[in-house]
Amino acid sequence: MSTEKPKIGWIGLGHMGMPMSRNLLAAGYPVTVYNRTPGKADGLGCALAPSPAALAAASDVVITMVSDDASQDQVLFGEDGVAAGVSAGKTVINMGTVSPGASRDHAARLGRLGIDVLDAPVSGSVKPATDGTLLILVGGDKAVFERCQPIFDVLGKRSFHFGGHGQGANAKLAVNMMLGLTLQALAESVVLGAKTGLDTDMLLDMIGDAAVASPIIAMKSPSIRAGKFPAAFPLKHMAKDFGLAVEAAEAAGAAVPITRAACGTFASARKDGLGDNDIMAVLTELRTQSAL
Ligand SMILES: NC(=O)c1ccc[n+]([C@@H]2O[C@H](COP(=O)([O-])OP(=O)(O)OC[C@H]3O[C@@H](n4cnc5c(N)ncnc54)[C@H](OP(=O)(O)O)[C@@H]3O)[C@@H](O)[C@H]2O)c1
Repeated sequence: MSTEKPKIGWIGLGHMGMPMSRNLLAAGYPVTVYNRTPGKADGLGCALAPSPAALAAASDVVITMVSDDASQDQVLFGEDGVAAGVSAGKTVINMGTVSPGASRDHAARLGRLGIDVLDAPVSGSVKPATDGTLLILVGGDKAVFERCQPIFDVLGKRSFHFGGHGQGANAKLAVNMMLGLTLQALAESVVLGAKTGLDTDMLLDMIGDAAVASPIIAMKSPSIRAGKFPAAFPLKHMAKDFGLAVEAAEAAGAAVPITRAACGTFASARKDGLGDNDIMAVLTELRTQSAL
């Protein structure tokens, strides 16, 4: 990359992609966007490409921020996907949470076209995405990572190069399983409290001041008090991430019994129609299971 800012092609304007692409625009990067539902780009104030292929042809660096392995596969290799428009010497960065296996596979397939690829999923939700304070967890060639550092510096407060392709994805699963487990633990405490006649507000006050307190518990407690769970991190994505973590653990021979159990709770919550609510709606699932 020269000192001139590279042309960015941004794919995916969901909860995370919207504020992240806005930050790159505000930092002066020339940004073109593509979103499956094009109306979401209204008001963003930048060029909208009609397909991932057209976006890739017009960009130096393509960044994807879509849901999962299937959607990532679709935007990269589907009809009019990135692979159909990209040319050798360009860079593709995936910042969504996909499996380590898909990250390696996508890197190999794009690598054969002469494309540099990084998996760079993020830790942090909508607020850090808006504030540009995400943690960025990177796998791929170190020189490519260093070249892309100025972009990561706009989007996050720290970036970590964990190793080759797929290692960013592995790091993301390691931190996200802790997030899901912490919030399920909080929900279980609240449910036990309710069943044993404790006042929920007082219980949350006490937990917030106890040795187990943490930033994520402080962040989610207001939604428990309000009894409302509008999505910041949709529960369906945590259900997906638990599934990926169990799969990765099985492949690596890691014992993760609590993660396995939580994976089951989140799968039930999703089946019960809670997928588009916030991750903290796991409490709704446990309340139902506890006849509360
Ligand atoms: N939300 C968080 O707090 C958070 C935090 C860290 C990491 N993540 C990860 O970041 C990724 C994005 O999360 P998000 O919360 O922004 O998700 P989201 O709000 O559900 O948005 C998903 C995006 O993917 C697009 N998409 C889905 N399926 C597609 C397909 N088949 N073809 C093309 N585009 C498709 C959607 O397009 P449409 O607009 O057309 O539906 C939308 O732009 C996920 O992997 C998630 O696990 C999320």
